[in-house]
Amino acid sequence: MTANNPQTDTTVSSRYNFDQPVDRSHTDSAKWRHYQLEGERQGREILPMWVADMDFVSPPEVLDALQHRVAHGVFGYGKIPESMTEAFCHWYAEHHNWQIDPKWIVWLPGLVSGLHAVGRAFGEAGSAIMTHTPVYPPFLKVAVRNHKQLQAIPMKEGERWSLDLEAMRAEVKDNTRLFMLCNPQNPTGRVFSEQELKALADFCIEQDLVICSDEIHCDLVLDKTYRHIPLASLSDEIAARTVTLLAPSKTFNIAGLACSAAVIPDAKLRSHFKRSIEGMMPGVNLLGFVAAEAAYRDGAEWREELLHYLKANRDMIVQWAAGKDQVALNQPEATYLAWLDLRATGQENPAQWLLKETGVALSEGADFGLPGFARLNFGCRRELLERVLKRLDTVLK
Ligand SMILES: Cc1ncc(COP(=O)(O)O)c(C=O)c1O
Repeated sequence: MTANNPQTDTTVSSRYNFDQPVDRSHTDSAKWRHYQLEGERQGREILPMWVADMDFVSPPEVLDALQHRVAHGVFGYGKIPESMTEAFCHWYAEHHNWQIDPKWIVWLPGLVSGLHAVGRAFGEAGSAIMTHTPVYPPFLKVAVRNHKQLQAIPMKEGERWSLDLEAMRAEVKDNTRLFMLCNPQNPTGRVFSEQELKALADFCIEQDLVICSDEIHCDLVLDKTYRHIPLASLSDEIAARTVTLLAPSKTFNIAGLACSAAVIPDAKLRSHFKRSIEGMMPGVNLLGFVAAEAAYRDGAEWREELLHYLKANRDMIVQWAAGKDQVALNQPEATYLAWLDLRATGQENPAQWLLKETGVALSEGADFGLPGFARLNFGCRRELLERVLKRLDTVLK
């Protein structure tokens, strides 16, 4: 394997050590525990590269803030601190050139809940929700769980995955009410360009659709050549029909602390959304706010180094895939997820096959709406990634 040298790649990491081993196997980690138990049953070690959290310790600034808060010892009902809102708005202004007005924010305990809440709030029963595939599996469940119809439009394959606007125009119906976008895109890692986003926005304006833009991966753009553009920052007209879902959870590895937000600039849309979740949605837990505030206020340097590390992991996988006839991979531009095209293996369910043959657990393509593929989470120590690729080498040609 022509791997990047970990020593060389991490020299930029002067403050934070992403190579530091962390044993999550006997902890409460969903990613590790599931396959720890399965591995014990099978009498072998399974390497979990599936659910999207990273194996890295969160920024020390976040840990310090949490420890300070825990030491206080009182955990009654919380009220969102103004300093948290300030840190959140400042982060998006500084990193994404988007001025968020604090009154646009609706805090949520998670973005999967956010996706479902949007699906519930907008469009009458029986109306249609359009999205693109492959996509993060909960997107495909929102319509049916809210008594609506799903219109899943396959993206165009090619050197870069792209939205198929022609197919979207052909499929859109009189009762389509909502378009659900994932940008940066999970699982393909695409960062949609300004031109692509404008074309999508034009389509949504023309069809009078509300847009739910899940931008949870926006801080994980791996190359300086790409830039995340918040859809709602394109124009007031687009902002007025957009619900943007955001969270620090992927970037700073604090998903278990459940703090996220829907940003809804339009007052009518926002109050409708708020009414529809009233009494259904718990508040964000106190520690989630503490972690999020510290991450947004003090985590920029940690994130820079994280991106550097992830990029080297990404390059390693891309090089590895380039040397295989049975694996195709479009270079992920963002996220720590590699969307592996394994159709050349001839396996109906490549993830299941690889689990059985190699003990590497990937996410199944069919769950994202595209069988024959599998998603590999490379948000881990390079040493583990090397072990994973070596195992995959034993069966993939
Ligand atoms: C696109 C996308 N949205 C939402 C989520 C989950 O968000 P939460 O953990 O806040 O429910 C994920 C997690 O992988 C994701 O990739």
